[in-house]
Amino acid sequence: AGGNANAAPRLGFVAIPPGVGDALQVPAGYVAQVIAAWGEPIGIAGQMPAFRMDASNNAEDQAVQLGMHHDGLAFFPLNGASTHGLIALNHEYTDDGLLHPDGFLPMTPAKVKKSQNAHGLSVYEVRLNGQQWEMVRPSRYARRFTLGTPFALSGPAAGHPLMRTEADPQGRTVLGTLNNCASSQTPWGTYLSGEENWAFYFDGGKDISPHHRRWGVRDKGFYGWGAHDPRFDVTRTPHEPNRFGWVVEVDPMDPTSTPVKRTALGRAAHEGAWVALTRDQRAVVYSGEDARFEYIYKFVSTGRMQPGGAQANRELLDHGTLYVARFDADGRGAWLPLVHGQGPLTAANGFADQGEVLIKARQASDLLGGTKMDRPEWLSIDTASRWVYCTLTNNSQRGQAGHPGVDAANPRANNTMGQIIRWLEDGDHDGLQFSWNHLVLAGDPANERAEAKGNVKGDIFGCPDGLGFAPNGLLWIQTDAHATQMYKGEFKNIGNNQMLACDPQTGEIRRFLTGPTHCEITGIAFTPDGRNLFISVQHPGETPTDRSDPKNPSQYSSWPDYQKGGRPRSANVVIRKRDGGVIGT
Ligand code: FEO
Ligand code: CA
Ligand code: CA
Ligand code: CA
Repeated sequence: AGGNANAAPRLGFVAIPPGVGDALQVPAGYVAQVIAAWGEPIGIAGQMPAFRMDASNNAEDQAVQLGMHHDGLAFFPLNGASTHGLIALNHEYTDDGLLHPDGFLPMTPAKVKKSQNAHGLSVYEVRLNGQQWEMVRPSRYARRFTLGTPFALSGPAAGHPLMRTEADPQGRTVLGTLNNCASSQTPWGTYLSGEENWAFYFDGGKDISPHHRRWGVRDKGFYGWGAHDPRFDVTRTPHEPNRFGWVVEVDPMDPTSTPVKRTALGRAAHEGAWVALTRDQRAVVYSGEDARFEYIYKFVSTGRMQPGGAQANRELLDHGTLYVARFDADGRGAWLPLVHGQGPLTAANGFADQGEVLIKARQASDLLGGTKMDRPEWLSIDTASRWVYCTLTNNSQRGQAGHPGVDAANPRANNTMGQIIRWLEDGDHDGLQFSWNHLVLAGDPANERAEAKGNVKGDIFGCPDGLGFAPNGLLWIQTDAHATQMYKGEFKNIGNNQMLACDPQTGEIRRFLTGPTHCEITGIAFTPDGRNLFISVQHPGETPTDRSDPKNPSQYSSWPDYQKGGRPRSANVVIRKRDGGVIGT
C-alpha cells in the first residue's frame, strides 16, 4: 500500500463535528482568518477601488479587484520566507446572480464584460504581521489575468490551423483563460492552472460539429456571452473552443511575464496539473479531466529541469510525450501514448498531425482505450513514497442505462460519494506500467445503499475534490458536495463541505474544518514551514434556485461579512495554530 516511507507525524488535533450553519469551524487550538474576498482591490498602485457590497462596482473596477469563486491557489515565498509571499489564485467561474446589482438577466454587454473580468487568475502579496495575515497593497506583484489578458500558446498545437481565428490568424495568442479550477506549484517556481468547464461558455448554435459536441459544447452556454462577444458564438468563431482546455503556466514572481498555454500537456476539461520529477529531473505532469467518464493523463518531458527557475525552464513543458491511463482489473495499469502515427492515431482516423491529436485528446483516448473515470479532480504526489493520489469526486451516471458500467477502478454504480485512487509507477514516474489501489471509498456507513456506505476509517465525507500533501507528509482532503444534495438522503449526516486530514500510512481520516452554508472547500497551500495553511471558500450560499432570480442567493449565506443586504463572497482563509505549531500535528 501507499504511504510515506518516513514516519509521517500522526494526526494531533481533536476532530470537529459535521458542519452545520453559516460559519467556518476549525478545531480547538486553531484560528481561521478571512483574507482576500471577491471584490477586494488586489493592490495595483493607483487602482484600488473599494468593493461595494451591493455589487455596483463596474467592469473596470472588477478588472483590478479579486475575481469571483476562488479555487486552487499556491503560496510563493518571497526570499524563502514563510511569513511573506505571493498568493496565485484561480477564479473558477461567476455567479451572475450575485455579480450584478440586478442579477443575471437580462445579460448586457457591460455585464458580460464584468463577468469576464471576474474570471481568470489573481496574484496578490501577503505578509504575516504579528498574528494576522494581511494583503500588502500596493504591491508591485499584484496582477489580474482576465478574459482580456493575452496568453501565448506553446507546444505542438500552437499555430495549428485548428487554433487560428480571424482575430488571431497565427493561432498563437489567446485572450484569457476560463474556468480555472485546481492549481499547483512547479519545482521551478511557476504556477499551473487547469481550464476546466470551458465548454459551458460557448453558444454552439444549431449545427454543432461532432468534435465540439464530443467536448460538451451545447447549443446555448450557461453565461449568455455569445450574444455579446462573438468569440463565444461558435457559429461565428468556430475555432475559439479549441483555444481553451489547456494547462496554463504563470510566473507570478515576474509581473511582466506572459502567461502560456502548454499544448503538449493535451487538451481536456482540466481540473489542474501537478508535477513530479523523475530521478534524473525530467518533469512528469499528472492531470485529469473532471467530467463523467473522461480520463487521467500524464506528460513526460524530454528535457530535464535546469537550475535557474522559470526562465531556465521556459520550454520544459513544450517537448515530451503525453499518455492516458488504463486501470486494469488486476490492480495493474498502463500508460498509453498519444503520439501521432502510433496505433490508431492516424490521418485515416482523423488526426492530421500531433497538434490535432492534442486538440482532440478525448477522441484519441477513446480510440486508445483509456479508462473512463468517475470525474478526476485533484491529484497529489507523495514525494517520499512516490505514490500518486487522485480524487474521483462522484458519478451518478456510472452503471446507469446508456452509460458505462462499473469497473475495478470505478467500482460503484450511481456513485454519489466518490473515491480516492492511488498508484505507484514501475521504476520511476516515467514508468509505462503501474500498480494501483483505492485509499478510500467515501460514504456514510449509515446509508442503506451498499454503494453509498464507503469504507472511511474515521470521519465521514462525500465528494472528495481538493487534495494535497503537506510538507510533513499528511494528506489533506477537501469536499464539494452540491447544494442540491446536502443535508438529506445519503448526505444527511455529512453536513457542510469540509476539509479532513489523512494519515496515508494508516488511512485514518479526521475532520479538520467545516465551511459555511453551501460553500465548497478548495485550494491547499502551506507555507514552507507548515505553520500556515491557505484555502479557498468557494460559492458560500450557492443557490439551487433559478440563477435569474434577482433576489438569489444571499438567503442561504451571508458569509463572511454577515451584512444585511450584502452578498456571500468567496474568499481565501488562512489557518494557524494558536501556539504557532505545524498544522495538523
Ligand atoms: Fe472545478 Fe472539478 O471542480
Ligand atoms: Ca474542483
Ligand atoms: Ca467538484
Ligand atoms: Ca467548484
